[in-house]
Amino acid sequence: MEGIGWKTAQIRLVSSHPEVYEPCDDSFALVDALLADRTNLLLHRPAICLEVGCGSGYVITSLALMLRRQIPSSAAYFLATDINPHALSVTGETLAAHGVEAELLLADIASGLEDRLAGKVDLMVVNPPYVPTPEDEVGAPGIAAAWAGGENGRRVIDRILPAADRLLSSRGWLYMVTLTANDPSQICRLMGRKGYASRIVVQRSTEEENLQIIKFWRDADEESAASSPTTIAGRVIESLASHLPRLSSFRGTH
Ligand SMILES: C[S@@+](CC[C@H](N)C(=O)[O-])C[C@H]1O[C@@H](n2cnc3c(N)ncnc32)[C@H](O)[C@@H]1O
Repeated sequence: MEGIGWKTAQIRLVSSHPEVYEPCDDSFALVDALLADRTNLLLHRPAICLEVGCGSGYVITSLALMLRRQIPSSAAYFLATDINPHALSVTGETLAAHGVEAELLLADIASGLEDRLAGKVDLMVVNPPYVPTPEDEVGAPGIAAAWAGGENGRRVIDRILPAADRLLSSRGWLYMVTLTANDPSQICRLMGRKGYASRIVVQRSTEEENLQIIKFWRDADEESAASSPTTIAGRVIESLASHLPRLSSFRGTH
């Protein structure tokens, strides 16, 4: 087991395209959240992992390397979707350059996959388009779809949440990037009504935005609670969700 020495900086961007989102603070924060929760993830041993909106492939490649290197016997299967076909090409090249594989699908969130994957996904990661924009920019072809989130930046997020609920297995975990403007405490309450607990794994402020990486898991998933001493604190964080801006588990810059 390689352990602590593993660094995300090992991901090389071998390919790019003007219409594909390049890894940025939000991508780094999402991977840092996976690393911060690595001990739990390794115990969790997810069998099916899905990234929605893979862009350059930075996140799915990081995840596949993390699980493969640290659990050599892991039989995890990786899938990634994007609505941008150029993103799938770039992701394919990023994965191949690092010797890992994922099934890549051109899809709106996970459309076309739900019959096959309903209730089977153990780990889902999403860095969605979260920037508040005019509604007509949402889902536009090309790079604008990477950030355009419509009113409060919630148009795509609010479609991802029910999809996640359908796809996640009974022990499934979701890690999702949000912006303070997305009203993350309300997102946690929404998911709470579907039976999910939540906690902020990473919170990060940049010059432009305040980001949170939130982990959701089914409340009855005692494995999550048992394997993570921080989860207890997480439950406290959840109960304080309305005070999000004041909870700064800030981890510094990438
Ligand atoms: C903020 S970028 C994140 C890219 C990459 N995951 C990362 O963290 O660097 C959002 C990605 O989601 C994709 N996307 C936007 N709307 C989508 C949808 N409805 N279904 C699937 N992918 C979508 C965009 O094309 C873009 O690649």
